[in-house]
Amino acid sequence: MAEAIKIKKNLYYVGVSDSDIRTFDIIMKTANGTTYNAYLLKTSEGVILFDTVKQEFEDEFFEKIESVCNYDEIKYIVMHHLEPDHSGALPELSKRCPNAKILISPMATPMLKAITHNESMSFETVWTNKEFELGGYKLRFLSTPNLHWPETMSSVLINENILFSGDVFGSHYFDSRLFNDLVGDFDYAFKYYYEHIMRPFKSDVLNALKLYEKYEINTICNLHGPIIRENPQRYIELYKEWSTKEVRLHGKKIISIFYVTSYKNTKLLADALYEGIESNDLMIANMYDMTALDEQNMISILEESTGVLIGMPTINSDAPKPVWDLLSCMMLLEKKGKFGGCFGSYGWSGEALEMVQSRLKALKFRVPLEPFKVKLVPTKQELSDAYYFGYEFSEIVNGKAMEMTL
Ligand SMILES: Cc1cc2nc3c(=O)[nH]c(=O)nc-3n(C[C@H](O)[C@H](O)[C@H](O)COP(=O)(O)O)c2cc1C
Ligand SMILES: [Fe+2]
Ligand SMILES: [Fe+2]
Repeated sequence: MAEAIKIKKNLYYVGVSDSDIRTFDIIMKTANGTTYNAYLLKTSEGVILFDTVKQEFEDEFFEKIESVCNYDEIKYIVMHHLEPDHSGALPELSKRCPNAKILISPMATPMLKAITHNESMSFETVWTNKEFELGGYKLRFLSTPNLHWPETMSSVLINENILFSGDVFGSHYFDSRLFNDLVGDFDYAFKYYYEHIMRPFKSDVLNALKLYEKYEINTICNLHGPIIRENPQRYIELYKEWSTKEVRLHGKKIISIFYVTSYKNTKLLADALYEGIESNDLMIANMYDMTALDEQNMISILEESTGVLIGMPTINSDAPKPVWDLLSCMMLLEKKGKFGGCFGSYGWSGEALEMVQSRLKALKFRVPLEPFKVKLVPTKQELSDAYYFGYEFSEIVNGKAMEMTL
């Protein structure tokens, strides 16, 4: 019989571990497995439950709950996040305690319906600074959208200074010792998790940190991996550092040119663009052959670049694979504030350029200029035009009003 683990007076861990999982949400590797954390607070007026677990582990979750309370004592179920790793046991839980009120963010309402397909579930929506009291405990809600889904929220147990952070500050790292001061070194997992889940939403992370910093948080009850009770400030600072990095090299903004080429036509254009950008004192240009970049390097370069120019020939009516590989890395990065553009040589139809242009737009890059296209071998005039294209792009990245905004 699984038992709840006491974390603090009246607060229990009722989460479960998934030590065998090796891939999470398709995009993450989980060498130590992971945990689905959930918490239970006993008060003199009833129980508050914080989140549930993945459905396949619900029996263990229910055993843990039953080890500390009866279902009719549960007054509130706080759902910080509705992804199935946390909402999986909710349908069964709500059957076992039909009178418990489910608290979700306003954005979560249509999601809850689409996940449970249960119209009779009783829920209430809460938003930033809404609070309630139960048995002398005061819980305040904080909206933390996009960390990790649009509906995600956190909450703070005021007076206790315990933060229920949702997915924020999690790690996919299972260690039965449970607390950050007892488990092995999980720094790599903490960073890896940030990079895959939080980094695409850096601005939202900074907004969340602003809400958190009003509290002297002593414990972070997150939804995955070690619970952070020793030096939570260190983990908060790491998120701040990773999310604020405004990258400049020698004081200049970076524009990166990525190209592929078979007969050097596109490369000639890339060289001319490079010179055009470099003629702008406030910018620094970097140039890379995509065929020799691995994914991690692509991600690092994209992250530090304010401007990205992608050059390619059209091959069999498409852009060559390294271009799509590069663009797929953008899934892990925030596009806000980045500028994009494309250029290349083609033989007769040149479809690649329109495709990449519209992909950049779909990724929410600002794409101020039409693709720079040249039929086969660039002329002297075309190389000179490419130089000015590079210069114009750099001026726009530097803040000049865009001629064509999106
Ligand atoms: C295998 C192959 C397929 C091609 N398919 C197309 C195509 O579908 N449409 C097009 O406009 N040009 C096509 N081209 C022509 C190239 O885009 C053109 O030669 C271009 O100048 C090559 O630029 P690069 O020297 O930078 O590689 C093709 C070339 C090759 C070698
Ligand atoms: Fe999530
Ligand atoms: Fe999660």
